Amino acid sequence: MRLRKIAGADEAVAKHERVLKAEQRKAGWLKELAAGKPAYLEIGMGKGDFMLEMADKYPNALFLGLEKYSSVLLKALQKYDNIEDKPENLWFLWENALDLADIFSAAGLDGIYLNFSDPWPKERYAKRRLTAPAFLEKYYQILKPEGRVEFKTDNPGLFDFSLHSLADSPYFKIEKIYRDLHREIAAAENVMTEYEKKFSALGHPIYKIVCSKTAGTSMP
Ligand SMILES: C[S@@+](CC[C@H](N)C(=O)[O-])C[C@H]1O[C@@H](n2cnc3c(N)ncnc32)[C@H](O)[C@@H]1O
Repeated sequence: MRLRKIAGADEAVAKHERVLKAEQRKAGWLKELAAGKPAYLEIGMGKGDFMLEMADKYPNALFLGLEKYSSVLLKALQKYDNIEDKPENLWFLWENALDLADIFSAAGLDGIYLNFSDPWPKERYAKRRLTAPAFLEKYYQILKPEGRVEFKTDNPGLFDFSLHSLADSPYFKIEKIYRDLHREIAAAENVMTEYEKKFSALGHPIYKIVCSKTAGTSMP
């Protein structure tokens, strides 16, 4: 996501009360915060449209939006602040996905959303793609035994790479593949992300892969 650095974004994000700071994340923090609800993480949340809608639609689940750039996260926080009836089940993390194992030291997540992840088309950057094998291993570590990953993209190259990476992974089993999501499911069953709205309006088909550590559960 290209966004000019916003002056003061670091400070604004660092002091925002819905951003979970490292010092608030003591052992067992996720279990405490979830308080028995299922917990879902979007990695590379962007400006937050998907997480805001999910939190509103599913009040009995906990949602966490992780974003590495403060200027992008700030946009999500501003949207949150502008909601009159603010969802209490949504929190934000200003972090890099590379540090997931430190942030989520225990296997406590029910699901991970990877929505329109940066494609990193050049082969020499393949390891930065969020579906690269080293990331899949991290997801495996922080997901509950029945945990799931849902991936959406409009990018055919990233879709093919992710399909192979997941199919070859010892950590995940592919449950379902969509090659034109918006034609294959009813609109009411799908919460669209900011990028999804943008690219589907341009006529791009949306790809989706659903996978699990173990079969038999479902994500909202
Ligand atoms: C293309 S945008 C998609 C945003 C949103 N998920 C959507 O579908 O509209 C990808 C986002 O992922 C973030 N991102 C990329 N790599 C990341 C990483 N390693 N850790 C955290 N965020 C990352 C980028 O800063 C950007 O905001």
